Amino acid sequence: MNLQGAHILLGVTGGIAAYKAADLCSKLVQAGAQVQVVMTPGAAHFIAPLTFQTLTAHPVSVDTFQLLRDTDMAHISLSAWAHILVIVPATANTIAKLAHGLADNLLTSTALACPAPLIIAPAMDADMWAHPATQQNIATLHSRGAIQVGPAQGRLASGRVGAGRLASNAEIIAAIRQALGRTGKLAGKRVLVTAGGTREPLDPVRHISNRSSGKMGYAMAEAARDFGAQVTLVSASTGLAPVYGIQMVSVQTAQEMYAAVLQRVAETDLLVMAAAVADYRPKGAAAQKIKKADDDLTLELERTPDILMAVAQRRQETHHPAFVVGFAAETENLLANAASKLASKHLDLIVANDVSSSDSGFDVDQNRVILLRPDGAQEPLPLLQKTEVAERILERIAEWWR
Ligand code: PMT
Repeated sequence: MNLQGAHILLGVTGGIAAYKAADLCSKLVQAGAQVQVVMTPGAAHFIAPLTFQTLTAHPVSVDTFQLLRDTDMAHISLSAWAHILVIVPATANTIAKLAHGLADNLLTSTALACPAPLIIAPAMDADMWAHPATQQNIATLHSRGAIQVGPAQGRLASGRVGAGRLASNAEIIAAIRQALGRTGKLAGKRVLVTAGGTREPLDPVRHISNRSSGKMGYAMAEAARDFGAQVTLVSASTGLAPVYGIQMVSVQTAQEMYAAVLQRVAETDLLVMAAAVADYRPKGAAAQKIKKADDDLTLELERTPDILMAVAQRRQETHHPAFVVGFAAETENLLANAASKLASKHLDLIVANDVSSSDSGFDVDQNRVILLRPDGAQEPLPLLQKTEVAERILERIAEWWR
């Protein structure tokens, strides 16, 4: 994950949500980031600097004029050190100061001197957030490239319900990952990923599907985002939450996935088909719920369109996508079956996974895959978390593509 070793400067301002910044700080440190914290004097009323100092193992700066251990000017050295400046929570007051270039405390002066991307996670009362002054200040920050995460709708400290809650730490971390990856190996590329198992209706209440959880495809989409790509994820039903920073397209059936993919391939540089697409669907779904009878029931199935085959045909005319990746889910003859799909579907890479083992493949967090290329090259990867499998696959794609 690109948080490993990243220099994250966390600015904390004076709002009740300041305590949530401690959990964010802890999660970033656990993910391998180097975190330094600057607090406004107001933030120090809500949460002690010692909390952040303990979590980061770095001194926490609050006062612009405090005597430092060395002769560095804190606002200059911190701003030069940061790969990214993240302000969580960002109060209306700090947002206003940032918009107008005020530098009246260590955080605002550091922000003014900081060339790194700026992420702000506003949190305040709903009326303060809705006020035209705040909205204008936010618009000013956007126009300078600041990234805004949240605020979310929900219960506020006042007891009222509205927009003003701090975004979740998961969302803030995703925004940090995306911003850190903006110049990554897939920067400027448009990536289309499919995920999940399609559902083929039998009647209004039943369908045929498979055990795909969507985890592998979602991991591919997240990793592509963190490599700097602009990502669209065509997702069949999964239990997974939408992914931050990715355009989500929901589909149910193989036919819908076919339409969603084919509609977008001309504007796609890299297609990754991680979805488990049904090969067959019930011929003519019943309009009403099928009634139980004493006799056995025979279902007639018909073929679904093969999406990768259709992409291969389209590609001959448009030369898009430039790189096409399929996955092969096999329970026997893994390599031979995967190699035959690689050739018949005209792929640049097939990711073969043996889905007969219980620790990899469908509906688990890890996968054990072998990468197969048209020139016969094979690269087995060990059993890894799907997030890491996705990163390894994209690393290799970026190399081959170059
Ligand atoms: O979702 P998870 O629980 O994380 O599980 C991950 C996974 C096992 C589903 C994933 O790693 C995987 O292997 N996905 C592909 C599953 C599959 O459908 O394989 P296949 O061998 O049947 O198809 C080969 C390729 O053709 C696939 O890229 C598939 O998306 C594509 N296909 C299949 C049928 C069809 N009608 N059109 C297609 O394009």
